[in-house]
Amino acid sequence: MEILSEWLSAQLEQESAEPVYRQLLHLMQQAILTGRLAPGTKLPSSRSLAGDLHVARNTVLHVYDQLSAEGYVISTTGSGTYVADTRPDSAAVSLPPLDGETADEATATASPRGDISSRGQRLIDQAGVSAKQWGAFMPGVPDVAEFPARTWSRLQSRLWRSASHGLLTYAPGGGYRPLRRALSDYLRVARSVRCTPDQIIITTGIHQSIDLTVRLLADVGERAWVEEPCYWGARSVLQSSGLKLAPIPVDDEGLNPSEADLRDPPRIALVTPSHQYPLGMVMSLARRRTLLEYARQHNVWIIEDDYDSEFRYGSRPLASLQGLDDANQVIYVGSLGKLLFPGLRIGYMVVPERLAPIFRTGVAELYREGQLMQQAVLAEFIMDGYLTSHVRRMRTLYGERRQLLIDAVTRHFGDALPVMGEEAGLHFVLGLPDYADDRATTAAALDAGVIVRPLTGYYNGEQKRQGLLTGYACVPHEQIEPAFATLARVIEDQVFARAPNAKQRAA
Ligand SMILES: Cc1ncc(COP(=O)(O)O)c(C=O)c1O
Repeated sequence: MEILSEWLSAQLEQESAEPVYRQLLHLMQQAILTGRLAPGTKLPSSRSLAGDLHVARNTVLHVYDQLSAEGYVISTTGSGTYVADTRPDSAAVSLPPLDGETADEATATASPRGDISSRGQRLIDQAGVSAKQWGAFMPGVPDVAEFPARTWSRLQSRLWRSASHGLLTYAPGGGYRPLRRALSDYLRVARSVRCTPDQIIITTGIHQSIDLTVRLLADVGERAWVEEPCYWGARSVLQSSGLKLAPIPVDDEGLNPSEADLRDPPRIALVTPSHQYPLGMVMSLARRRTLLEYARQHNVWIIEDDYDSEFRYGSRPLASLQGLDDANQVIYVGSLGKLLFPGLRIGYMVVPERLAPIFRTGVAELYREGQLMQQAVLAEFIMDGYLTSHVRRMRTLYGERRQLLIDAVTRHFGDALPVMGEEAGLHFVLGLPDYADDRATTAAALDAGVIVRPLTGYYNGEQKRQGLLTGYACVPHEQIEPAFATLARVIEDQVFARAPNAKQRAA
């Protein structure tokens, strides 16, 4: 035991800021874990160790108590304190050999399992999320500076002053009832969605709504149709839930499955009918009806992602697909992220009546939802009319910014670069010639201080169109021209200066 006390006294640092008690505890734990103190070893009495180390006996007694409470040692009244045998059970950690295999062969062939699952690796390899979330020309982001923060804070303070206990617990499955009522009224009027408050499930956003739908309605290995190109976030959620993606091309009328696609019905079809993401077209009525009929016949669940349809310039917002669905095959998902601010993380889904109890249980079971206070503030915000007036004001503002950006494109490039999907939303696509490299252009733009996203990053198949997703909603009017002038210089440099025929400017 002299050896233990010698080792401990060599390790203890008198000058250290860490109290002696903590140093001693860590040293003894380390000695036991590394085998320096073998199982069964009797520890010196507290009195003798304290004497050897020149520390108070109480300090050693506390250390022994803590070691005993954490299972490092066993104390028996009268006979002393012994190091416990906590070595991992060798039978539990080494797998038995397979039938007909000797133990040595099993060890030789066992390959260490990688840290990351293959679906996790694919998620990381294809990740689209960017470090920067704000600035010219970040696509898909509303102008959070315009959010009526004072109104929100007034509603919030009032609710906190009278905070009922019910608002501070976990949310009931489906979310805060008055919010579900307010949303069902809003969606009926604004989006022609047919629903009752019972059919509304509050989530943290569209990502979570898709995740929940997939977990409840599809099995690992089943197929999901996604539009080609599509939002990378939705693709990531589907794929990491173990679904196989089938990219289906889109044309001017939206989703356009081939004969071969139709012969193999998927479990899920994820679509953006009111405003295809990212290209911007609207699914025609004929295609909507065909898709709904196909889903009815083959029992396909359609997820309708209605992420930004309120922002349509020049014409009224288009009705939802869900409103046409007589067979109850559509799961409608939306979010307050683009209407109010992305960090709010409140979204909603409208599910067919027969599925509502399943989704209410599922959401509470999987995610243990809360944020009732935020949900209550939002309910009041909607009921008092602030949502509608904010959206109306933002539609005008974003419409002006969109026009300023289109004017800037025309001023710099004439009609050499097509602007696609500009009728609605918070971004448009600036088409680049086929020979361009939109990823390199995006990286160069970022170096120059401008954010865009490469269109090719949204494709899942081989055929990709070159372009830049260019957002205007979060860019103040006066910054649009100077920021676009910077982007234009990058495009000149990265695209036109590298054209096969350097003078070529055709799209
Ligand atoms: C098409 C589309 N769906 C969904 C989302 C994300 O929705 P949420 O933030 O509610 O998860 C985005 C975000 O940009 C999007 O572009």
